[in-house]
Amino acid sequence: MTVTLGFDVYGTLIDTAGVTEALKAFAGNRAAVFAGLWREKQLEYSWRRALMQNYVDFSVCTRHGLDFVCTALDITISDYDKRELMAGYRMLPPFADVEASLPILKDRGFRMFAFSNGKPGDVASLLENSGISSYFVDVVSTDEIKSFKPNPAVYAHFLRRSGATGKEAWLISGNPFDVIGAVSAGMRGAWVKRSDKAQFDPWEIEPTVTIDSIAELADAVAQT
Ligand code: LAC
Repeated sequence: MTVTLGFDVYGTLIDTAGVTEALKAFAGNRAAVFAGLWREKQLEYSWRRALMQNYVDFSVCTRHGLDFVCTALDITISDYDKRELMAGYRMLPPFADVEASLPILKDRGFRMFAFSNGKPGDVASLLENSGISSYFVDVVSTDEIKSFKPNPAVYAHFLRRSGATGKEAWLISGNPFDVIGAVSAGMRGAWVKRSDKAQFDPWEIEPTVTIDSIAELADAVAQT
């Protein structure tokens, strides 16, 4: 049986905290707080948009999140600099374990897809910039059905696009809400616990496996 892996992008392959360095020019020692709140707002806006069925491209959620945080933290950033920060968001760095782990997974016969809220072009440029695009069969974007994770329709869309069924399809994500969404929709879910402080939501739905690094993924999947 060929196992299909759908990798979440922001927060799993790509480190959204990578924007912190650029934020230091505007937020000084509050740059990490700024980056964290920006990410939270971006996601909150995507959830609300999905629920309201008022879809905009994920980068609009990102930009609105940026505008919100500037006001919340009372930090002025010009339109030009905001556009530069948004451009930086398309060039965020990969997590350290990604580059070494993907070739091993490919050699072990996994079919790998990138699966993201991001528009296909934005995801493609992130993967290209990180030098990892060749490991993926394709990019599956929730933009193709104009909604966002964790709408169950987006996981069904992933299964249709990848030609996999739920039991042989895994969502790999550092984002607990995404893992819960995928498992609830019938997929397997690997939670990549990206920091010691990361916490899984205390719901009735748990990850199929929890790993500290993508380097542990092949063995964790094989043992299930
Ligand atoms: C994504 C968001 C959830 O890449 O991080 O889909």
